[in-house]
Amino acid sequence: MKFFVDTAEIQDIRDLHDLGMVDGVTTNPSLIAKSGRDILEVIKEICDLVDGPVSAEVVATDAAAMITEGRKLLEIAPNIAVKVPLTWDGLKACKVLTDDGHMVNVTLCFSANQAILAAKAGATFISPFIGRLDDINLDGLDLIEDIRTIYDNYCYETQILAASIRSVNHISDCGKIGADVITAPAAVIKAMANHVLTDKGLAGFLKDAEKAGIKIV
Ligand code: E4P
Repeated sequence: MKFFVDTAEIQDIRDLHDLGMVDGVTTNPSLIAKSGRDILEVIKEICDLVDGPVSAEVVATDAAAMITEGRKLLEIAPNIAVKVPLTWDGLKACKVLTDDGHMVNVTLCFSANQAILAAKAGATFISPFIGRLDDINLDGLDLIEDIRTIYDNYCYETQILAASIRSVNHISDCGKIGADVITAPAAVIKAMANHVLTDKGLAGFLKDAEKAGIKIV
């Protein structure tokens, strides 16, 4: 299971990268805006740090302009995955850029039918948004499951990049379903280490060690 970090904050990426937890990074215009930095500059800095795919999203809405923006983003580094929205124009841009040999992440996927179109357009990654479906009382994990079944039925090579992850349970559930990649905020990935019984057990061990005067160095 590959871990991408969903952020444009360099420090978040660095912390997880030092532990070997970062297989890639995803950004979107909202995350770039939140960082307050120039998109080309921040994406370059991320690519200098991370070897895996770094998704950088276009802001144009027509196919020709998306392709132009995508090519500009691709100049930054060889590990750029151009992120395009799942619109008809986004699919056209996906086809052109993947035919040219580039990685494309098709984002804002909310249905299995959209995921089929992305695979047929040659997408490297499809990004179904779990949390935003949960927000409207649908089940985002059902979508991941449906896409997994369909992609396996037809041996589509597009990787399922589960996005809009809000909780640690989303991550283990995606693992059970067989999503190829999850992208999550650094805080959610770090929270995977937490367990109340770990904290309780450690407190007990430390108390006993202190009582017995156990010293190692
Ligand atoms: C994915 O690529 C998106 O950047 C992200 O996961 C969206 O998450 P959100 O719904 O929490 O904004």
